[in-house]
Amino acid sequence: KRLIFIGPPGSGKGTQSPVVKDEYCLCHLSTGDMLRAAVAAKTPLGVKAKEAMDKGELVSDDLVVGIIDEAMNKPKCQKGFILDGFPRTVTQAEKLDEMLKKRGTEIDKVLNFAIDDSVLEERITGRWIHPSSGRSYHTKFAPPKTPGVDDITGEPLIQRKDDNAEVLRSRLAAFHSQTEPVINYYGKKSVLTNIHAEKAPQEVTAEVHKALSS
Ligand code: AP5
Ligand code: ZN
Repeated sequence: KRLIFIGPPGSGKGTQSPVVKDEYCLCHLSTGDMLRAAVAAKTPLGVKAKEAMDKGELVSDDLVVGIIDEAMNKPKCQKGFILDGFPRTVTQAEKLDEMLKKRGTEIDKVLNFAIDDSVLEERITGRWIHPSSGRSYHTKFAPPKTPGVDDITGEPLIQRKDDNAEVLRSRLAAFHSQTEPVINYYGKKSVLTNIHAEKAPQEVTAEVHKALSS
C-alpha cells in the first residue's frame, strides 16, 4: 500500500503511523522526523531547514521533495509506505505524482486526520518524544511508565523546540493556508477518507484500520 496521512500538528499522524506500519510492513516516511534528524546532525540540509522549522513555517518544496525522492528508492520502501507530513503544498503533491508515475505506481489512499484546532494546543504542549525512535508520549493522554523516560530503551525523552503555543499558531496558519488545498486536491481524485481524529487513540486506530481495509 502507498498511503498519505495528512492533518494539522498534533492530529495523531505520528501516533497512528507505527501501528499501521508494522501491520502492513510499510516504511514510515515522516518528513518532520527526517528534517529533525538532519538538523540534529547539522547536515547541509539541516542547516537550511532549521530556521523555517523553528518558526513553524514550511521548509522549501525542493528540499522536502528531494528527501522523499531519495527515501523512496530504499529497498525497504518498495513494498509500500506511509507518507506522514508530506505532501503539504499543492506543488509537493504534483511533484509526488510525477515521482510515482516515473516508478509506475500511484497513491492508494489518503487519510485526512480531521480535528478542531481548539484541542491541539494541549496535545502539542504535553508531547514528549524519544528522538532516536520517533516514539511519542503525552503527559496526560499517553504517559510513559516513568516520567521523562522512554518505556523501551530507558533513554531520556525530550520536547520538540517547536512544541509551544506560539510556534503552534504559525504551524496551524501554514496548515490552513498551504496544506488544506492539498486535501481538496486528493478529494477530487477520490482517494480521500476522513478520520475523526479527536477520538481516543484506540478509536482512531480502529477507524484507520477500517479505512485501509475497505
Ligand atoms: P512535522 O514533524 O510533520 O510536524 P506537524 O505536522 O506539525 O505534526 P506533528 O508531528 O506535530 O503532529 P502529529 O499528527 O504527528 O501528532 P502526534 O501523533 O505526535 O513537521 C515539523 C516541521 O517540519 C514543520 O513545521 C515544517 O517546518 C517542516 N516540515 C515537515 N514536513 C514538511 C513538508 N512536507 N514541507 C515543508 N516543511 C515540512 O500527536 C501529538 C501528541 O498528541 C502526542 O503527544 C500524542 O501522544 C498525543 N495524541 C495523539 N493522538 C491522540 C489522541 N487520539 N488522543 C489524545 N492524545 C493523542
Ligand atoms: Zn508527527
